[in-house]
Amino acid sequence: MTYNKKSVEDIDVAGKKVLVRCDFNVPVKDGVITDDKRIVGAMKTIQYLVAQGAKVILCSHMGRPHNVLDAELKLDKKEKKKIEALPAEEQEAAKAAALEKGKKDITKLSLKIVADDLAKKGIPVTLAADVIGPDAQAKAAALKEGEVLLLENVRFHAAEEKNDPEFAKALASLAEIYVNDAFGTAHRAHGSTAGVADYLPAVCGYLIQKEIDVMGKALDDPQRPFVAILGGAKVSDKIGVINNLIEKVDTLIIGGGMAYTFFRAMGCSTGTSLCEEDKLDLARELLAKARAKGVNFLLPVDNIIAREYKEDATFMRIYSDSIPDGWMGLDIGEKTQELYSKSIAGAGTVVWNGPMGVSEWENFASGTKAVAKAVADSGAISIIGGGDSAAAVEQLGYADKMTHISTGGGASLEFLEGLELPGIACLLDK
Ligand code: 3PG
Repeated sequence: MTYNKKSVEDIDVAGKKVLVRCDFNVPVKDGVITDDKRIVGAMKTIQYLVAQGAKVILCSHMGRPHNVLDAELKLDKKEKKKIEALPAEEQEAAKAAALEKGKKDITKLSLKIVADDLAKKGIPVTLAADVIGPDAQAKAAALKEGEVLLLENVRFHAAEEKNDPEFAKALASLAEIYVNDAFGTAHRAHGSTAGVADYLPAVCGYLIQKEIDVMGKALDDPQRPFVAILGGAKVSDKIGVINNLIEKVDTLIIGGGMAYTFFRAMGCSTGTSLCEEDKLDLARELLAKARAKGVNFLLPVDNIIAREYKEDATFMRIYSDSIPDGWMGLDIGEKTQELYSKSIAGAGTVVWNGPMGVSEWENFASGTKAVAKAVADSGAISIIGGGDSAAAVEQLGYADKMTHISTGGGASLEFLEGLELPGIACLLDK
């Protein structure tokens, strides 16, 4: 998907109220933000708007909260199902407890922590107590040039995820221009990510611009050889990406749990390794497609296997076509690491999404580490899809060596799949 969208620099923002959708959905542990990449990523656009004298209104979601700002607090489908499964006499109390828990989201998933962090980073921000309510309206109306307001978590309203036009209209009424800089939610057609663009001139911010420029160029006009590395547990999660990338890459490297579905499809024994039995035909089709296109399709030649899916499970290395009964593959082996690293070293462009093994466990992390090192050392244009591979690259200290680490997990996958992202499609074309 090629986008050529207007950006903040293509529209006069001076003195105007500008609503900026950011993805401030950052991980928080014990009241501390553990990865501020998404906040840092949004700062360039915010600073630009402030410098231009815009009146900046930021908005974002955080987590998946209850609709605590609606008149009636509703339970989500999962909670409802759980309660319905209880004996009739327990249901009322369980419902009351769940609603009580929902109200706690106001503090647990408030964007206050982001407002405080932005202030620490030199961008003083006022936090509104609501999203489209009286506080947000009053504070937005009182904004002076160069000031920044942050609205509360947009998902405190059920209408956000439903992309309800009335909600989008109310949000739009706070501002005169809409800027989407939330790449992480660009694959969601929600009120604040897409709906609002029906009511305001809509452009992208610097973060989205960079994401679509770098990834778009890699897909449309890559420096060759173009090597894609795909890992993760399931083939089913990556079908679309594999399908799209087979059309474009010279080499496709497979790691992680999904490798074993391919092995089973090829008739190899995979023991108790993760395997999607219902995807075997599809795996065969993908292998055949790769062959027909002349794509070098690399699967592990050896694996680290264990008897149990456990952090401290006993493990050993074994060749890929002979995983014994009762054993499961949890990482790629040394020979595979060498093979993959060699292929990556000769690449002109590398795109990587998904770990090579159970990378959160030390004994099964060496494949992911080796691939991260190979990508960092390659000198190729290197693009890391969000999620686990981005986390691995950062933890290992290779972040600076990568051309681009995407701030979107699901969004970068959908981009690599060639799907249209509603949060970008809704913006004005150049
Ligand atoms: C993410 O963390 O991938 C984005 O912020 C999107 O969040 P969501 O999956 O809850 O929509």
